[in-house]
Amino acid sequence: MPSVSGDKTRVLIVDDEELIREYLADLLEFEGYYVEAVGSGEAALGRLQKEPFDIILSDLKMPGMGGVELLRRTYELRQDHKVVIMTGFGTVETATDAMKDGAFDYILKPFKAEELVRILERAIEQIRLERDNVALREMVGFYELSEALSSAMPLAEQLKHIAELVRENFHADGVGLFTRDESSPLEMIERAASGRNKLHLNFEKVMHSFEHDGLVLAHADKVGQWVADSNRAERRVESLIAVPLRQQGKTFGFLSAYSLKDSQRFTEGHRKGLTVFGSRAASAIETHRMYGTLKDSFTQTMEGFARALEAKDSYTSGHSDRVSIYSRLIAQTMGLPAPMVDMVEHGGKLHDIGKIGISTSELNKPQKLSDAEYRMFKTHPVQGKRIIEPINFLRYIVPCIYHHHESYNGKGYPAGLGGNDIPVEARILTVADAYDAMTSDRAYRKALPHEVAVVELKRCVRKQFDPDCVEAFLAGIDDFRVQRKEEGLPIPF
Ligand SMILES: [Fe+2]
Repeated sequence: MPSVSGDKTRVLIVDDEELIREYLADLLEFEGYYVEAVGSGEAALGRLQKEPFDIILSDLKMPGMGGVELLRRTYELRQDHKVVIMTGFGTVETATDAMKDGAFDYILKPFKAEELVRILERAIEQIRLERDNVALREMVGFYELSEALSSAMPLAEQLKHIAELVRENFHADGVGLFTRDESSPLEMIERAASGRNKLHLNFEKVMHSFEHDGLVLAHADKVGQWVADSNRAERRVESLIAVPLRQQGKTFGFLSAYSLKDSQRFTEGHRKGLTVFGSRAASAIETHRMYGTLKDSFTQTMEGFARALEAKDSYTSGHSDRVSIYSRLIAQTMGLPAPMVDMVEHGGKLHDIGKIGISTSELNKPQKLSDAEYRMFKTHPVQGKRIIEPINFLRYIVPCIYHHHESYNGKGYPAGLGGNDIPVEARILTVADAYDAMTSDRAYRKALPHEVAVVELKRCVRKQFDPDCVEAFLAGIDDFRVQRKEEGLPIPF
């Protein structure tokens, strides 16, 4: 089949003689072309305004608009087709002039079928070359655009940017970027979108096609097969295109664009261009996932360190985990925003990480610490800050670590801050830390009962502790203890 892009090549025959139109239409249909025929230049223009054709095969002399004027007018409409002029012996000169005006070729009537077929094949080859060239130029442009995306941007912004670049550059009405939901693999999540109109695609069908190396590029009535049943009644979509998001050979999502405009049909060139953006999105997602995994495993390693440090001594075992839970409880009861609640929870787990450099056997001895030992002990918030500060994604918990031994009256350490000058996350941690220290066995004393610890917390309000944090702790701790009891868990744990 003579073809420009996989579909049948579209030929528009323009001739005022019906017999010639019929003969040519039969001939070219037999050769595998999609053919339409009209009887005048005006009718041809009307048809071309509605839909594009690859080749226009026009008679030179017709009543009304002749072949040369039609040629000129068609190129005003679009430039990606070829016009072949048919002419008799008497008008060869005019036909050669038409070539100067941009006609692809001319053919003298009467002609043999093979002659015409050869000309059309050459025209197709020429169109294909030109379109590939345009596609290549676009691809380079798309690549440059996608390169301009900064990988320092948060992932959601990068994906949104990609969706917007695609919509602008493809003149699309809507763009969507979807990935499989890792926690529920049959579901798809919309990661980014651009454009006002929503098109609900049949995700499973699109993904199935990509998993079997299929293509999604459809126009007009053929778009329906890719659309979810619930969305069929929506406005007609003129053109749809989608490319897979792949990483290490696995398809985990897709990037799609659609057009509602008759004039905007996506081509194979667009599909290749979209692939550039798709692979950019896929690698951004993968990088983010790997970084997230790295971050999580590093954080877990650090928390493991802190736990191992405590486990060396039975008196402090589990202390940081408990401080983390109490801190979360206080922050939640105070109604702090979720990121803050998470922050004190993480801060609790690592608040004593600075003790790594201090001998725990000495710190947990039954006797009172000597002045030198106490001075050494007091360096642990500073040591902790030194350990955590260089780690980018843990830096946000430095205030928890550095200030958790400050006192509300300003007599704590290391900075001697007071009142609200102490970051709230550290004020929370101080209460949680003190309560757990009192209700746990120590080398030099047995654990105090909950009620005694509560009295002590109240006694030290405004001295060591922030009143709001103590109030929040006391408001939450009873329910927390009841809940643990009901669940059959030890108190304290
Ligand atoms: Fe501490």
